[in-house]
Amino acid sequence: PFHGGPSAARAADPAYPAHRDCPMDPPALLGELRQQAPASRVTLWDGSRPWLVTRHAEARQVLRDERFSADSTRDGFPFVSPSATALRDSPPSFIRMDPPEHDRQRRMVTQEFMIKRVSRLGPRVERIVDELLDDMIAAGPPADLVEAFALPLPSLVICELLGVPYADHGFFQDRSRVLLNQHTPVAEVRAARDELTGYLRELVGEKAVRPQDDLLSRLLADHTDHDDLTMDDTVRMALLLLIAGHETTANMTALSVLDLLRHPRQWELLCADPGRVPGAVEELLRHQTIVHTGLPRVALADTEIGDVTVRAGEGVLVSLAAANRDERAFPEPDRLDVERPGRRHLAFGFGVHQCLGQPLARLELQIALTGIVRRLPGLRIGVPADELPFRHNMAIFGLFHLPVVW
Ligand code: HEM
Repeated sequence: PFHGGPSAARAADPAYPAHRDCPMDPPALLGELRQQAPASRVTLWDGSRPWLVTRHAEARQVLRDERFSADSTRDGFPFVSPSATALRDSPPSFIRMDPPEHDRQRRMVTQEFMIKRVSRLGPRVERIVDELLDDMIAAGPPADLVEAFALPLPSLVICELLGVPYADHGFFQDRSRVLLNQHTPVAEVRAARDELTGYLRELVGEKAVRPQDDLLSRLLADHTDHDDLTMDDTVRMALLLLIAGHETTANMTALSVLDLLRHPRQWELLCADPGRVPGAVEELLRHQTIVHTGLPRVALADTEIGDVTVRAGEGVLVSLAAANRDERAFPEPDRLDVERPGRRHLAFGFGVHQCLGQPLARLELQIALTGIVRRLPGLRIGVPADELPFRHNMAIFGLFHLPVVW
């Protein structure tokens, strides 16, 4: 009844994002709000009160409706942290654009990420997984699964694909962490973004002169050179792909291993039959929704979400984490069940912005987990559970480190 009510009801709109009581599950608040309504007002750090969409059906409805804009330069666009606002002072990449410009720019790279094209990378990804596990096994136990395996794997792959020297991984991994940390002061977010942008501008400049067999060289030759993509947009696209390409899969890999080790019966199922890994990857994506604070949108027109009316100009956050635990879509949603049928989860989003890199993410996650259950069936967590460093304040959830023994 108080949803959308006048100012007297404001105190009732809960603070968001909320803290997790158990780091492996979304905050209890999400479940409570989902039970009350498909969308509820929450209060952000700046006092703004966007709608949080918590149910599966309504999450899909909003994400495929063009009356909800992803353009972060529009008034009313919700920023879940002060650090996120730092990005307002420069034009965004296509993840924060609407059609038709979004579609035009996305189409320039869709071919690179199509399943057929990506599956050709399979043998190379397998070799990287094998080599990283060789080194980790030779040096341990113990090991930090993040540093030794989960982070280098997608970093290496995206570097090779884009044509970014992997030798610079310390630099870009470090700056990406600063960018994605919701507690980073705004000035530092800007500095990290500018350093990354400067680095990529120089790299792209070199490729313009000496093209190589990589995505960025192809983008330059096919688009930038023909004036249908500016140099600034090329650099922004490179930055989006570089960050999205390594931070996400790295965290999903480490969280997947942890989730499985906390459910020994599920772990044993995979060790006994690694053929179950592809299904398990989908269930883990659902269970550990790493894009955890919600996809930001702003309403362009008055729109109904269930029995709630969202007014033009109001912010909306689509909680994939809540939608992926919606009992209306998934029976016993909190249970990890690697044999759960179907792929209806929303971990990659939905609609025009649905993750471009998902074939690559799936390939990497499947090969990574297969390698681990094959070669390290005796894997265990190396520290007490309450000492694990979770990434509570990061735009992408996960673990900073995952100490393991075997
Ligand atoms: C978009 C999740 C891996 C590139 C998205 C979105 C989600 C997501 C939820 C939608 C954002 C929105 O609608 O506002 C994930 C997860 C991953 C993953 C869970 C791994 C487990 C990757 C990888 C790449 C990538 C490996 C490779 C470069 C992108 C790009 C977009 C995107 C470019 C923007 C698409 C658009 O706006 O049209 N991702 N992602 N992602 N992702 Fe991923």
